[in-house]
Amino acid sequence: MIEPDRYSFRRYLDAKRSVDRRARNRRVAAAFRRALEGFDEPVELCEIGTGTGAMIETILEWTVDTEVRYTAIDVDPALVEAASDGIADRPRGSSREPAGSDGSMRVDRDGAAFEVEFRAEDALAHLADGESTYDAVVAQAFLDLTDVRTALEAVVNGLRPGGIAYFPITFDGVTSLVPPIDAELDERIERRFHRRMDATEKVDGETGDSEAGRRLLTAIPETGGRVVAAGGSDWVVRPNDDGYAADEAYFLHHIVDTIESALEADGTLDAERLRTWAEARHEQIAAAELVYLAHQLDVLGRWPAST
Ligand SMILES: C[S@@+](CC[C@H](N)C(=O)[O-])C[C@H]1O[C@@H](n2cnc3c(N)ncnc32)[C@H](O)[C@@H]1O
Repeated sequence: MIEPDRYSFRRYLDAKRSVDRRARNRRVAAAFRRALEGFDEPVELCEIGTGTGAMIETILEWTVDTEVRYTAIDVDPALVEAASDGIADRPRGSSREPAGSDGSMRVDRDGAAFEVEFRAEDALAHLADGESTYDAVVAQAFLDLTDVRTALEAVVNGLRPGGIAYFPITFDGVTSLVPPIDAELDERIERRFHRRMDATEKVDGETGDSEAGRRLLTAIPETGGRVVAAGGSDWVVRPNDDGYAADEAYFLHHIVDTIESALEADGTLDAERLRTWAEARHEQIAAAELVYLAHQLDVLGRWPAST
């Protein structure tokens, strides 16, 4: 079987972890870690779109000496459950405490205390209502799903004066699959795929943004903030001598299937031609020949005390 029998978004998010880890911009990550050290402890942090919890694991590693209270929010309850189970099943384990209250979990680690509260709800609405405010907001691989400016306004509302927001893996307008199948067709598929992102309602009636990364660089100052650090975090997925790393072959199949589904819905390309193209891409993955590139930016912003 060249193509997987079924596709699972949860498996895709887990397969994405090794790709993100390689891609994240180290300079921007270092600036984020330094900024976290500047807050009074415990640092209160809210994550938008936690998925299966990849960013919780990363921030656990990055804050060993800093006490953290982490609010992890995803609109999909099944993903929130997966993230919560993933943290509870870590080798060192975790305990839900205080039992039966808000469901927050204390993660057992060497170093400073780390507590996570999981919430299944719209994170932008949670931030926009301003009832809880945070030192830091994090959203990885999220902003291309929504209108960047509207999302930032919600984020700013949920930040305390001097608060920061870290947006790793923010898609920015380039998808490339090589070697080519048919250069003209590949180019047309990329263009229509991005246009579909820009035209499809995803979050709260907002359409996505295939150039979210660059939009962020102007939207931060427009909302009264300052870009503290920014840099590329392109995904580069390619085979080694032993094939693709970890579950990255599945990751690639999922990406090709996502592009095919978007183009099917778009309806401008002949269905047979699209199917033949997708099959050829799946075959390239099975033969460990496909290389996938996606251009992304990591951005860290701070909103000064005066806003
Ligand atoms: C592309 S996934 C990224 C997940 C995770 N950040 C990662 O990098 O693995 C985007 C996530 O945002 C969630 N999401 C979409 N709209 C949301 C909203 N308004 N509030 C909270 N989560 C949302 C989706 O359910 C999905 O899990």
